[in-house]
Amino acid sequence: MSALFQPFKLKGVTLRNRIAVPPMCQYKAVDGVVNDWHLTHYTSIARGGAGLVIVEATAVAPEGRITPGCTGLWNDEQAQAFAPIVKGIKAAGAVPGIQIGHAGRKASANVPWEGDDHMAADDSRGWDTIAPSAIAFGHHLPKQPKAMTLDDIARVRQNFVDAAVRARDVGFEWLELHFAHGYLGQSFFSAHANQRDDIYGGSVENRSRFLLETLRAVREVWPENLPLTIRFGVLEYDGRDEQTLLESIELIRQFKAAGTDLVSVSVGFTIGETSIPWGTTFMGPIAERVRREAAIPVATAWGFGTPSIAEGVIKDQQMDLVMIGRAHLANPHWPYLAAKELGVEKASWTLPAPYAHWLERY
Ligand SMILES: Cc1cc2nc3c(=O)[nH]c(=O)nc-3n(C[C@H](O)[C@H](O)[C@H](O)COP(=O)(O)O)c2cc1C
Repeated sequence: MSALFQPFKLKGVTLRNRIAVPPMCQYKAVDGVVNDWHLTHYTSIARGGAGLVIVEATAVAPEGRITPGCTGLWNDEQAQAFAPIVKGIKAAGAVPGIQIGHAGRKASANVPWEGDDHMAADDSRGWDTIAPSAIAFGHHLPKQPKAMTLDDIARVRQNFVDAAVRARDVGFEWLELHFAHGYLGQSFFSAHANQRDDIYGGSVENRSRFLLETLRAVREVWPENLPLTIRFGVLEYDGRDEQTLLESIELIRQFKAAGTDLVSVSVGFTIGETSIPWGTTFMGPIAERVRREAAIPVATAWGFGTPSIAEGVIKDQQMDLVMIGRAHLANPHWPYLAAKELGVEKASWTLPAPYAHWLERY
């Protein structure tokens, strides 16, 4: 009996299996509005059999986009454009989720295939960035952000709330707050990026404040019966990882107390000079530790796109959901083929009936 193909229930939502498609930016939106590309991309991936499809990092404010091609949820036109995508994901049997975030000092970048770096100062498509402190990321992202005022912080917190309301009203059933990957939430937590001397900086408690306040404000508008989740980088590979991990686990306990249902465990990516031990499953033991010590369901990504490996990390209870990203870009029917490879009885029934019936017979 496959562990990977067991259903997963979280609050009022049941996923048909433990396979989640993590958020993956497409960089194809115009003014934050999704279009036919996003429709075909998300619905074809959902059709392939995953239990959960999380729509890419979607900005809560214009300056919070990573690139000019990123999706947004700061106005109603953007929200309405998501409606066919939500319906399409559901029609394919998956649960529609969305990640909302703010890119902070990593915003105003070129799309990856045009450099992935900050747009030049004289590029009219670029914009001013904001962050906890006026410290640039460096490397390919040299632009110095403006240190946020208390009014900026309150405004962005409200932007998260407004975006969550729009996500809720257009029918998303799973919300992920993007507090990872060196973007705004992660930057507040990181002493590398946050050198404020007010109540949002300094101690771990102060560096956690923006994340917890934003979570609590979103919790008030997000339906109690739908999962509210967070993607969070729990370490940086900067040489002080045990300390960061302990602080992260303590914060995740507070996330849980404030109404978070699952944490997607990831890397901080707040600094460029790191030696991340890339390799298949390197995040598995870290996710397992967070799951055990914070006593919260977890998911994680990075390298699990081989069926036997994905099966193993669920079976060993390292994580509750396994995120399969790039393997889905290569093949939207990854879950169906994984089911066959794992010897799941009637593997085709991982797909909707109009496909399954015929694949089973012939
Ligand atoms: C094209 C692309 C876009 C991505 N965009 C996002 C994103 O919007 N939000 C996010 O948290 N991670 C993003 N990621 C990271 C993925 O969610 C995932 O962690 C990564 O692809 C590793 O998983 P994999 O080895 O299964 O591909 C992106 C990755 C790729 C390849």
